[in-house]
Amino acid sequence: MIDLATVARPIIGAPMAGGPSTPTLVEAVGAAGGFGMLAAGYLTPAALADAMAATRGPFGVNLFCPPDTEPDLASAQAYRESLAQLAQQYAVELPPVAVAAAADDDHWAEKVDLLCERPPAAVSFTFGLPDAETVERLHARDCTLLATVASVADARAAAALGVDAMCVQGPEAGGHRATRRIADEPEDVPLLELIAAVRAAVSVPVIAAGGLMDTAAVEAVLKAGAVAAQVGTALLLADEAGTSATHRAALTDPQFTETAVTRAFTGRPARGLRNDFVERYDTGAPAAYPAVHQLTRPIRAAAAAARNPAHVHLWAGTGWHHARPAPAADIITRLTPA
Ligand SMILES: Cc1cc2nc3c(=O)[nH]c(=O)nc-3n(C[C@H](O)[C@H](O)[C@H](O)COP(=O)(O)O)c2cc1C
Repeated sequence: MIDLATVARPIIGAPMAGGPSTPTLVEAVGAAGGFGMLAAGYLTPAALADAMAATRGPFGVNLFCPPDTEPDLASAQAYRESLAQLAQQYAVELPPVAVAAAADDDHWAEKVDLLCERPPAAVSFTFGLPDAETVERLHARDCTLLATVASVADARAAAALGVDAMCVQGPEAGGHRATRRIADEPEDVPLLELIAAVRAAVSVPVIAAGGLMDTAAVEAVLKAGAVAAQVGTALLLADEAGTSATHRAALTDPQFTETAVTRAFTGRPARGLRNDFVERYDTGAPAAYPAVHQLTRPIRAAAAAARNPAHVHLWAGTGWHHARPAPAADIITRLTPA
């Protein structure tokens, strides 16, 4: 159980799946007076258990909710064909569509069981909402439940489920947009407006996320009524973050001049630095998650191994150019209003 009003600093270290959110980062955010979140996404249940065991102090865990629809195989096949030339360039085999599109719920049931067995202080959800039974089971273990939402309609649905707080994600956010359904196109109501609209619609506390890179931005969301700010991109260059070398280098590379929201890498909309892969594949990318994630994976892995940022997903929020390498404690302190 976590009472956000009692956390020393109103800063939550965003869960960042794919490497950045290490136990060391989560612990450092907590030790600095904030609250850190482990990212369960893409991990096996055993790897999640290890990460939880390795993290000291109160922390939260973020889960990807299972996909709401099955992918359209024809559009996944067409996308696979469009990737063939790049696959050849890296000399990698792409999985057949039937394999890439096989049912994959990111080990939802096993992860929920694990969290019920060893409850963390908080559990947050993205990519949809949990079922009522999961809410009941985790509440029975005293977990504070946070739904990540990016629209008023989804905030209402989350409130009806009885979650304890909303993480409201604005369009400025790095990484995947917290759209509920795979086919949903993300809205672009700016964060401060979205906070006001969600607060008017639901009565639970609101945490704000998206593009918060300095004290003034944190101050603004607190003034708008949020109880805390959740920051991702600001921590990507933290000493304790597990951000890959290619991703770190790209975040300070002047060749990248903007971010874009694209389905090209995973099939769900996500914001990252606009690179050659986005240029080439954004238009044809189908709303097929996680099939597209599986299809593009060999190319992304080969490009990362070659330290080539052109064909790797480089998640970043709109404020990425303000990210600086530093110990996480310094970043958290710098973000905290006086
Ligand atoms: C590299 C990266 C990975 C992310 N992974 C997750 C995740 O696993 N689960 C989640 O709920 N949000 C994830 N997010 C989104 C964050 O929770 C948050 O909404 C976002 O970082 C806020 O915007 P900012 O990056 O501008 O601070 C990720 C963001 C980034 C940058």
